[in-house]
Amino acid sequence: MSILWNSEQKTLTLETAGTTYQMAVDQYGVLRHVYYGKKVVPADMMYLHRNYDRGFSGNPYEARTNRSYSLDAVCQEFSSCGVGDFRLPSLRVLSPDGSRCADPRYVRHEIRPGKYALPGLPAALDADGDAATLEAVLEDPGCGLRVRLLYSVLPKKDIIARAVLYENMGTAPLVLEKAGSCCLELPFGSWDLIHFHGRHCAERTPERLPVMHGIQAVGSGRGMSSHQHNPFLILCDHLATEDRGDCYGMMYLYSGSFRAEVEREAYGSVRAVMSVGDESFRWTLLPGESFAAPEVLLSYADGLARLSQQYHAAVRENVCRGEYRLGHRPVLINSWEAVYFHIQPDRILDLARRAADLGVELFVLDDGWFKGRTDDNRALGDWVENRDKLPEGLGRLISDIRKTGLLFGLWVEPEMVSEDSDLYRAHPDWALTVPGRKPTMGRNQLVLDLSRKDVQDFIIHFVSGLLETYDISYIKWDFNRSMTDVYSHLLPAEKQGEVSHRAVLGLYRVLETLVTRFPHVLFEGCAGGGGRFDAGMMHYTPQIWCSDDTDPIERLTIQKGTLFGYPLSTVGAHVSIAPNHQTGRTTPIATRAAVAMAGGFGYELDLSRVAPEDLDAIREQIRDFRADEPLLREGLYFRLDEDLAGMDACAWLLVSPEKDKALLTVVTTATHANAPLMHVRFKGLDPDALYRLKEEDLTLPGSVLMHAGFTLPMLRGDYPSFRLHLERI
Ligand code: DGJ
Repeated sequence: MSILWNSEQKTLTLETAGTTYQMAVDQYGVLRHVYYGKKVVPADMMYLHRNYDRGFSGNPYEARTNRSYSLDAVCQEFSSCGVGDFRLPSLRVLSPDGSRCADPRYVRHEIRPGKYALPGLPAALDADGDAATLEAVLEDPGCGLRVRLLYSVLPKKDIIARAVLYENMGTAPLVLEKAGSCCLELPFGSWDLIHFHGRHCAERTPERLPVMHGIQAVGSGRGMSSHQHNPFLILCDHLATEDRGDCYGMMYLYSGSFRAEVEREAYGSVRAVMSVGDESFRWTLLPGESFAAPEVLLSYADGLARLSQQYHAAVRENVCRGEYRLGHRPVLINSWEAVYFHIQPDRILDLARRAADLGVELFVLDDGWFKGRTDDNRALGDWVENRDKLPEGLGRLISDIRKTGLLFGLWVEPEMVSEDSDLYRAHPDWALTVPGRKPTMGRNQLVLDLSRKDVQDFIIHFVSGLLETYDISYIKWDFNRSMTDVYSHLLPAEKQGEVSHRAVLGLYRVLETLVTRFPHVLFEGCAGGGGRFDAGMMHYTPQIWCSDDTDPIERLTIQKGTLFGYPLSTVGAHVSIAPNHQTGRTTPIATRAAVAMAGGFGYELDLSRVAPEDLDAIREQIRDFRADEPLLREGLYFRLDEDLAGMDACAWLLVSPEKDKALLTVVTTATHANAPLMHVRFKGLDPDALYRLKEEDLTLPGSVLMHAGFTLPMLRGDYPSFRLHLERI
């Protein structure tokens, strides 16, 4: 078992293949955080933590004569509120008397095989059959709160999954104002925070900053995980590189508003807390009720590359589910940038025929196919075919497309409603709006209130209807505005602080029902590009449209940031037309494909406007992609930017788990005359094996490629790229 309890030392030690995590119950019943890092032999590591009298730090009543003991100065698994720990709290609880004090202390624990599940929430699965779970129960009889801290160890993946169940064990209602899922303490060291910020068309830009004294926080209050901040953080040693240095990740399996806070306190220790909702979050717990705070996947690795690889394997194999989790996904063509709203059967069929001829496998009919949808101002909610655009019906179009040999996929945006729609006219109270107040509009549409079961059932019903009526293999599930006017017409005033989270739970119920009912359908997530690109969604949609920006040069940063935590298989990426519709930039088709292949590969362009030589290139690209797909999906991913520092280029490498194949990709972002040579060192190869460098007609030992490296030929022209396949011989 990978979880050990030492009853003499009162330590609980969690072990994965490469890491050790230790906590201990101290003399006051506080569950102390002791160690998390590289694997060590089992030992009591409480010696690391020395307590001194710290001025102006309070002492718990039972430690009033022991002034060296303060909750403000000890590392804990779950920080309290209102009782003398002035650092980041893991929770905030309002008692009926108006006080906000909660200090849950250890009462018992249980260790069991397997992975915990969370009611109504996504959670990683025990895909390797080796998981073990620790449930540590903490109670505060003073306010009547019990918290169950859940830890599941996924040993092969070097992941510790954490979640918290809050229970009202008292006789009076409690209001949770903050519900943390995970508190991580780093007692020693000097840390950098890497977070992923952005905007529409520039999601998940990585930013690395030293952790300062005080609190740094990122999060979302938009009811979606958001384009602006991603629920994934890395804390790494200030000197950490791709290859070396302590690196910790916190990945939230949650798709709504969240808060990720990091605090460096007076004595240098760092605490990070991930919690659900924003400052408007309020959840009433009646006596006997419980609340589940979503899951966080924690991971530790020596070096950033290894940390990314650990998350890639865990998300791909333990978080994503279903038939499309691993292996082949159809290469698709999407109609959006090809025709936008101008859907005409002849044009669509022409696109499908050309795509089929090139080797594409799936045709996706994007926005614009349903009743009244002439532009993006109307009709969301009226999910029946548009007979003006499709006089012979959607079924006829699908069957014609299927005759070309392509599978068929359809776009929907189920969580939204337009004011100008039959649905809104029939059910105005189904939208999130505040009585007596004109709602804030976004893309001239409103968000449906998914906290309501009738709304959830409507969505399940209409999506099921589409999937039962038509021959559909794929659904693109879009979400094109943030939540505002967060008010449910069904709930009383005191429950309005629950609506945002209830809506996310509603979405999860809808998706769970649909993916269970239609296991053969591939669901791709989307939110105006990558506005809801998170591991929570990946539990239902193993692929998510990464960004509405399809310019390959812009995508370099977007995809690099994304791939810090999420595997290539989750990244929806398409080759689009040049000049690009978002930037006006012209890039070679080879560069567009090289970038899109670092993701769920597809095309999104009007093929009738593509030059014949580019059509030949596309045919070739699809063949190449199929040949490389296992490597691209399951290979170990290495960023090579450290070798190219100061160069206008971006490089990455994929190495098969067996080390028998590798693929180097380099994309330049500017071309210079008489330029310095670009040089990279390979990683992750077998040093003793010989590799054939396919495009270079060279054979070299792995150790040479990894240490002496490889010098690239001079690349010329606008945005050239370079790909090199290695094969062990
Ligand atoms: C936003 C998506 O990100 C696009 O790909 C496209 O589906 C549009 N919505 C359609 O309205």
